[in-house]
Amino acid sequence: MKNLRPIHIVGNWKMNQTMHEISEFFIEMTKMKMELKCKAWIAPQALHIAILKEMAFTTGSIQVGAQNCAEVDSGALTGETSPLALADMGVEFVIIGHSERRTIYGEKNELLNQKVLNALKNDLKVIYCVGETLAEREANDTFKVIEEQLNVGLHNLPADKAHLVLIAYEPVWAIGTGKVASAEQAEEVHAFIRGKLEHLKDETVILYGGSVKPDNIDSLLRKDNIDGALVGGASLKAKDFRQLCSIA
Ligand code: G3P
Repeated sequence: MKNLRPIHIVGNWKMNQTMHEISEFFIEMTKMKMELKCKAWIAPQALHIAILKEMAFTTGSIQVGAQNCAEVDSGALTGETSPLALADMGVEFVIIGHSERRTIYGEKNELLNQKVLNALKNDLKVIYCVGETLAEREANDTFKVIEEQLNVGLHNLPADKAHLVLIAYEPVWAIGTGKVASAEQAEEVHAFIRGKLEHLKDETVILYGGSVKPDNIDSLLRKDNIDGALVGGASLKAKDFRQLCSIA
């Protein structure tokens, strides 16, 4: 069934990259004129989305998304990003529920559910992130936590929008720590997630995130239920991002 699901390599640039670094990134990407076989997506800071869309256009195959969006389309919400405005600008996807949003900004599953439903209403593709902390893993609560994140975060997901949803499993203990989950650990959780999906069980893309690098992606992608990666640090340099895409 894996061949039903295209491999996605998604760069989450978080709060990084200057205009100079972004220009360098695309100059390098354009020099390495290889046809991308996988889906290559990048989520820059909201401020850089418009310029990145222009630059990505020159490479032809990179889609641009947002790292977060509000749960409503418009209103008095200083500093927020509207999903309606994202869709209006031709943004393709949005990441919702990243662990940094959950832990640093206190976003709970109920709020994330509103964000997911509203982004889908605007026909944005959604990468919904789930994952356990180290303490939860050590307490053997990994599956309980992830089930709750899926049940609440994807509550009332309309069947006709399910094709727009991707899931990212990012164990919090593996993010930015250099401690990648083993391919077996990741596959065990990915298979669990797939089993819990209400719609499109076989078609839904499930990404792994957490210290993915060119030297560990191959073993992850060999697993039946790992359909790509959500990559932080290693997506910032064109050489690494390109290499991840070529291996995929
Ligand atoms: O969303 C990607 C992420 O949280 C993983 O970051 O730097 O460990 O690849 P990193």
